[in-house]
Amino acid sequence: MKQNVKRIGILTSGGDAPGMNAVVRAIVRTATAKDVSVLGIRRGYSGLISGDIVELTRRSVDKLLPQGGTYLYTARCEEMLTEAGQEKAVQTCRHMGIEGLAVIGGDGSFQGALTLAKKGLATVGVPATIDNDIACTDYSIGFDTACNTAVDAIDKLRDTMQSHERCSVVEVMGRSAGHLALHVGVAVGATCILLPEQAVDFTSSVIEPIRMGRLKGRHHHIILVAEGYGSAQTVAEKVQETTGMDARVTILGHIQRGGTPSAMDRVLGTQMGCHATSLLLAGERNRLVIKKDGNVVDCDMEEGLSQRKCLEQSLFEAALAVTS
Ligand code: ADP
Ligand code: F6P
Repeated sequence: MKQNVKRIGILTSGGDAPGMNAVVRAIVRTATAKDVSVLGIRRGYSGLISGDIVELTRRSVDKLLPQGGTYLYTARCEEMLTEAGQEKAVQTCRHMGIEGLAVIGGDGSFQGALTLAKKGLATVGVPATIDNDIACTDYSIGFDTACNTAVDAIDKLRDTMQSHERCSVVEVMGRSAGHLALHVGVAVGATCILLPEQAVDFTSSVIEPIRMGRLKGRHHHIILVAEGYGSAQTVAEKVQETTGMDARVTILGHIQRGGTPSAMDRVLGTQMGCHATSLLLAGERNRLVIKKDGNVVDCDMEEGLSQRKCLEQSLFEAALAVTS
C-alpha cells in the first residue's frame, strides 16, 4: 500500500446529479486537512485530457453543500473512448503530480476510470447518477433529490388533471433504467408505471385500470413512463383513442437533475466523499465507494461494474397491488 500521497485530483463526469458538490467538498476538506493538495479537473475527462485544472482549497468549496449541479462542470468526452485520449489523460496526471483520482459519476465514467487504473493510475469512483442504476451499490447520489423533484412536479400536475378530469402521461428520465420511474410512480400513486425492464400488456396494464377506475368514480389518472420505455406521446394517444379520456403529456426532462440536494444526498455525498479520500490517501486503486446494507464501504471497480442492476421486483409488485 502506497504511503504519503501528496496530491490527488477530482472530476465529475456524465450526467450531473444533485449532491455531487457535497462529494467534492468532503474530499477537498478531508484531504487538505491532511496536507494533501487537491486539484479540480473541470469538464470531466475533457479537462483531464486538455489540462483544464484548478487548485481546490478549503475556501473554494465553501457554500457548495446546498448547490445543485456540479461546481467542476461535467461533460461527455468522446476522446476518452480512444486509447490516445486515455494515454493523454494519464500523461496529464503524471505531469501535474496527481497520484490518485476521484471520479464522481455513473457507470460510463467508471469505465473510463478503469482504463486509467489499468494504466497504473490509482482511481476511486463515487456513484452519482439520478438513474440509480449502478448495480454494486444500493444507492447513487442524486436519486433521492430527483425523486422528490419529480414527485413535487407531479403533485402539482395532479391538481389540474383532477380539475379537468384528464389523464396525465408523465415521462421521467431513465434511458435504460426504470428505478426513478418506479419510485416516483409509487410515491404519486400512479395508475400504471411503464418501464424499460418490464414488458406489460398495454390493455390490461393501462386501459383496464383506467376503465375500472372510472367505474369506481375516479376521473383522473397519472401514468408514469420511463424515458427508456418508449414514446409518452404514443401512450397518451392510445389512451385517448381507446378510453375517450382527454390525455396530456408532460416530459419532466432536465428539471429532474437540478435543484438543491436533499438532506439525504448531502449526508451520503459527504460520507462517500470522506470514504473516497481515505482510499486515495491509502494509495488504493480501482475501488468503488458503495452503499451496502446501510453502510458506506468499497468494492473492486471492475467486479462492481460487471454486475447488472435488476428492477426492485417487490416494489413493482407493491405498485401493482395498490392500484388493482
Ligand atoms: P455516466 O457516467 O453518467 O454513465 P456516460 O455513460 O455518458 O455517463 O459516460 C461519461 C463519460 O465517461 C463518457 O463521455 C466518456 O468520456 C467516459 N466513458 C464512458 N465509457 C467509457 C469507456 N468504455 N472507456 C473510456 N471512457 C468511457
Ligand atoms: O444522468 C442520467 C440521465 O439523466 C438519463 O436518465 C438521461 O437519459 C440522460 O442522462 C440525459 O442526458 P443528457 O444530459 O445528455 O440529456
